[in-house]
Amino acid sequence: MFYFCVMSTESIDVKNILGLKLPTDPRWVNLAELQLEEILTDHAYCEQKAATTCISLIQKNPEKEKMVFALSPIVTEEWGHFRQVLAELQKRKLKLGKQRKDQYVNKLLEFQKKGGSPDERFLDQMLTMALIEARSCERFKRLSEGLDDKYLRNFYRRFMESEAGHYTLFIELAETYIDKEIVRKRWKEWLAYEKKVIHEMEVRGDRIH
Ligand SMILES: [Fe+2]
Ligand SMILES: [Fe+2]
Repeated sequence: MFYFCVMSTESIDVKNILGLKLPTDPRWVNLAELQLEEILTDHAYCEQKAATTCISLIQKNPEKEKMVFALSPIVTEEWGHFRQVLAELQKRKLKLGKQRKDQYVNKLLEFQKKGGSPDERFLDQMLTMALIEARSCERFKRLSEGLDDKYLRNFYRRFMESEAGHYTLFIELAETYIDKEIVRKRWKEWLAYEKKVIHEMEVRGDRIH
């Protein structure tokens, strides 16, 4: 089974389920609310990058059949998310701005093992995706709880539920090809590293991460 989509809003607990070590600074939602055009633009590109990364994983690993079949519908789903955010911008007469440097993702990429074996590199790619999905899920949760606009709170609750399913999928895919103990050990290292990244990053309302 690939998905654990049954998570309810209440059950998505940042510390226990997502495993993230540092909750988002509570000030972030208030800052994001003031810069809706910026946040929607950044969100749109996050969705786009999720789709293109899945395409590239399929292109690079055609022999990993289970992964290919699992990620194919995710490409469609992420692209659907991109379209939803784009429609939201349009509805509000806001513009999709230019893509910005993704500091958070760049920091995560620095932690990927460069000279490792193909398995180690694959594992890091899966765990990077899992982390981005988990942190996005946590950020969407914050928005779904903290925004003033009721419509937007619901809008973000749906994204949160979707990304919760994705985070578990990438961990499961890692475990399909790599020994579970190795996956677990490396995931812990990633979580510790991500905590440091979030801690060191400036809290700004124009970015999802
Ligand atoms: Fe998404
Ligand atoms: Fe996702």
